[in-house]
Amino acid sequence: MKRQLTPKDRLIVALDVSSEAEARALIEELKDEVGVFKCGLELFTACGTTLFALAKEYGVKLFFDGKFHDIPNTVAHACKAAVRQSVDIFNLHALGGAAMMEAAAKASAEAYGELKASGSLSPAALANPPALIAVTILTSMDAKALQDELKVQLPLAQMVPYLAQMAQRCGLDGVVASAQEAGAIREVCGDDFLIVTPGIRPKWAEANDQSRIVTPGDAIARGADYIVVGRPIVKAKDRKAAARLIVEELAAV
Ligand code: C5P
Repeated sequence: MKRQLTPKDRLIVALDVSSEAEARALIEELKDEVGVFKCGLELFTACGTTLFALAKEYGVKLFFDGKFHDIPNTVAHACKAAVRQSVDIFNLHALGGAAMMEAAAKASAEAYGELKASGSLSPAALANPPALIAVTILTSMDAKALQDELKVQLPLAQMVPYLAQMAQRCGLDGVVASAQEAGAIREVCGDDFLIVTPGIRPKWAEANDQSRIVTPGDAIARGADYIVVGRPIVKAKDRKAAARLIVEELAAV
């Protein structure tokens, strides 16, 4: 699964808004500038699967950032439902453990196989099975919080590649991680493993609540396949211009 991605393909914009109307406006405005749109918990809780239909209506790729974390049986069934919704990328928390991730990967493959056998998949969906990826450690969490609050003994810089390898062994397609750890993940997981990096801040944007931030160009240079950008684009005065600036930065890597 070697990825041939253009700079535009690599940009995932977080639809961090609370209504279908706002999401529609964002997609309409940015669909020619951006590779993938991400539906996270805020929008999903507000609009549900309407968003999946909206992505199909506009013919844009969708990353369902549902971050599943539950018992293996429940997550497996949630994954089947996500595959049947034809999302392009969806995810779970690696901290849910190996049994949960294995069940998720198996269920996703089964659901995709069923769809294929039913003949209901479009040529695009046939060429690109949905990617199931794992959140390693949230980019808002720093090393101190990991050790002092969560009592995780392994240093953050080792914990992230450790979780990535576990996800790969369990049959997942990639991970969500800070770009600061992308190099270490590439080293242990190889080229055939997706790395999606949030916590991205161009030099001209504010950090907000993200701790481990990296610029768009640096994230790709460090080995990321995709970058997730929310507020620097969504809250920009000129969102199209902000997205274009970021794609230009990616093209220059
Ligand atoms: O506004 P900002 O660019 O910080 O948004 C980042 C997006 O990426 C948010 O939707 C957030 O939920 C998501 N995300 C993250 N860190 C992770 C996983 C997802 O920031 N580890």
